[in-house]
Amino acid sequence: MQEKLKDIEIEAQKQIDKAASVEKLESIRIRYLGRKGMLTEVLKNLKNLSVSEKPIVGRQANILKQKISSSIEARIRTTGRHKKQKQKADITLPGIKPTSGSLHPITQTIRDICEIFSSLGFSRIVGPEIETAFRNFEALNIPLDHPSRDSFDTFYLNNDFLLRSHTSPLQIRVMEKHKPPIYIVMPGRVYRPDAVDASHSFMFHQIEGLAVDKTVSFADLKGLLYMFAKKMFGKDTKMRFRPHFFPFTEPSAEVDISCIICSGKGCRVCSGKGWLEILGAGMVHPNVFKAVGYNYKKYSGLAFGMGVERIAMLKYGIDDIRLFFENDCRFLRQF
Ligand code: DAH
Repeated sequence: MQEKLKDIEIEAQKQIDKAASVEKLESIRIRYLGRKGMLTEVLKNLKNLSVSEKPIVGRQANILKQKISSSIEARIRTTGRHKKQKQKADITLPGIKPTSGSLHPITQTIRDICEIFSSLGFSRIVGPEIETAFRNFEALNIPLDHPSRDSFDTFYLNNDFLLRSHTSPLQIRVMEKHKPPIYIVMPGRVYRPDAVDASHSFMFHQIEGLAVDKTVSFADLKGLLYMFAKKMFGKDTKMRFRPHFFPFTEPSAEVDISCIICSGKGCRVCSGKGWLEILGAGMVHPNVFKAVGYNYKKYSGLAFGMGVERIAMLKYGIDDIRLFFENDCRFLRQF
C-alpha cells in the first residue's frame, strides 16, 4: 500500500509539473483528490487494512493529500501569473507619461497669420491642390503665350489639370461662387519646378488674401498689410512697397519689411539692404473680374500672396527651407 502511495505521488507531481493551464490543474485535482479520486479511494479502503498498517497508511495518505493540493495551488499561481499581476498593479505609482507632439512650425505659422487676418474680419478658406489650367493661368490674366507663365507651366496631370503653382486660383474659385463683399485668406500647398536648395523647394506653402467690395483702395491694401506686419513681426516694424509686375493685379507691388535682425541697419540676413521681401500684392486687375463675371466698374479689390516658409524662416531665424520637410525631430521639437 505504501508503495502505491509513492507511485501516486510521483505520477501526480509529474502531471502537475507538465500542466500548462489552470483548467488542466483543476482536472488533475479531480483525478487525485476528487470524490472518486485515486487518493480518496485509498483513504476509503483503509478499513480493509490490518490494525498495524491502518494508522501508518492513513497518515501518509493525508500528508500526500496536502502535498498534492499545495503543489497544484503553487502551480496555479505561476501559470496564472499574468492575471494575478494585473490585479496587483499599484495604482498609486506615477504613470508613464506619453510623449506629446506639437504643431509643425509651418502649421503654427499658417495659424498665426490667419489669426491676425481673422481679427481684421477675414475668413479662412481652403481649396484643391489639383487645379484647372484656366484658373491657375487664364482667369488670372496669364494667357497661354504670356512669358510669366513659363516658369510655372508644369506638373500637368493632363491638358486641363495641373498641381497649382500658386494659391491665386483660389481667388477665382471663390469669386465664381460668391458675390462681393469678399474678405478671405486662403492657405495651402503650391508646386513649382524649382531645384531644391537652402531657399527653394518644389513644394511650399502660400497664403493668399483677397478683399473685394465697392470702395476697396490701395490705401486699404497698405493699411492692412502694415497692420499685419506689426502684429506678426513687432510694433516697430517698418514697411515699404516697391513697384512690381503681376499679371493679375494693377498696380502691383512687392512688399518689404525692415530687417527683423538689424532693424534696417544692414546685416547678413538682409544682405546689407536693411529690408526683407515678404509678399506680393496689388489691386485686382479688371481682366480677373471679367473672367469671373464681376462688374469691374462697380467693384474694386485688393489681393496679396505670401510664402509661409519665408515668413517662418524670418520669424524664427531659420536659414534652410529643407529643415521644414526633413521630419528631423531635433528641429521640430524646438517649436
Ligand atoms: N501668386 C503670386 C506668386 O505666387 C503671389 C501674389 C502676388 C499673389 C500678388 C497675389 C498678388 O494675390 O496680388 O508669386
